[in-house]
Amino acid sequence: MRNILITGGAGFIGSHVARLFVNKYPDYNIVNLDLLTYAGNLENLKDIEQKSNYTFVKADICDYQVVTTIFSEYNIDSVIHLAAESHVDRSIKDPFSFARTNVMGTLSLLQAAQNHWKSDLKNKLFYHVSTDEVYGSLGKDGYFTERTSYDPHSPYSASKASSDHFVRAFFDTYKLPVVISNCSNNYGAYQFPEKLIPLFINNIKNNKPLPVYGKGENIRDWLYVEDHAKAIDIVFHKGTVGDTYNIGGFNEWKNIDLIKILIKTVDQLLGRKEGASEKLITYVKDRAGHDFRYAIDASKLKNELGWQPSLQFEEGIEKTVQWYLDNEEWVKNVTSGEYQKYYQQMYE
Ligand code: NAD
Ligand code: DAU
Repeated sequence: MRNILITGGAGFIGSHVARLFVNKYPDYNIVNLDLLTYAGNLENLKDIEQKSNYTFVKADICDYQVVTTIFSEYNIDSVIHLAAESHVDRSIKDPFSFARTNVMGTLSLLQAAQNHWKSDLKNKLFYHVSTDEVYGSLGKDGYFTERTSYDPHSPYSASKASSDHFVRAFFDTYKLPVVISNCSNNYGAYQFPEKLIPLFINNIKNNKPLPVYGKGENIRDWLYVEDHAKAIDIVFHKGTVGDTYNIGGFNEWKNIDLIKILIKTVDQLLGRKEGASEKLITYVKDRAGHDFRYAIDASKLKNELGWQPSLQFEEGIEKTVQWYLDNEEWVKNVTSGEYQKYYQQMYE
């Protein structure tokens, strides 16, 4: 029996983690704490909302009093912390909200956990879900390992790096039982269509321009979101307290090559002529401070805890494209804010 607080469970990765835990562990109580920002959507969790081991609480992780009450009310013994501002381009325009949510919000949760657990730290765990962007940017060679020094470049990655440091500080200072994972780029169903893959699938479908930053030469290491959720499950149950685990897809793609695969897959599934949508590729001004390459060495997780990605990239991309084509209504409602309006009213 565990009482687990999942933060950000209405977002992209959080909804997959919440679904996995609610279905796989019927005797765990899962409390999903989410503010339902533009990125959070209860529609992502329709299939589990009636389960008896699932509760949703609309709240702001930065509100320390409310977070403290939630720890007491549900007698929380573990946290899987995913709530964050997550989009690099937004962080360039509005760094304050990233410092607020990602740094102060994480600190508020750490302090609440510390206060609630301090008399007995046994069987407690604060699991902080982080990103490979904290390590900065790679050249053509090499990989990020758990020993790579932090070197964040964007306001987003600086805020995540800072939150990771706070988590470590609570382990070193108060012995709070923590574990951190740093993951590469995720893709799959329910990702907000501002990120490369869902944005481009949507634009290809609707014959809109595909804004490729710079020359499209930047490289990302892509992981299917359900494989990330499975890795989180394994780290949560088997990870060593105080450790960091890198999670990655062993799956690097240059942006422009990935974009061509998306074009090919969408065109094929819509019965268009091969390459018909390549004309939509539009090279635009590069992202400021654009990291050149991310690539994760996930061998610690593989060797120590036995995790590796299960889905081949071609299959994952096809499933993902098909999901966005089949879920036009979801795309329309998240981008127009319709779902937000609906759920905000319900929880006001
Ligand atoms: P997302 O933007 O899809 O979801 C974030 C969720 O957090 C939303 O449901 C939102 O409503 C909620 N939220 C935001 N501010 C909040 C607040 N103040 N209080 C409570 N809830 C709040 O993000 P995602 O892509 O699912 O990422 C989840 C986590 O995983 C983040 O911490 C991110 O840094 C990390 N991560 C993401 C990726 C990726 O490729 N998307 C890769 C590695 C790590
Ligand atoms: O590496 C993990 C990170 O991956 C996560 O921590 C972040 O939350 C997540 O958003 C993601 O960050 P990226 O910046 O890598 O993802 P994004 O989808 O925004 O961009 C992927 C690549 O595509 C990047 O090199 C920028 C480029 N790009 C992106 C967009 C949105 C374009 O060329 N055009 C675009 O319109």
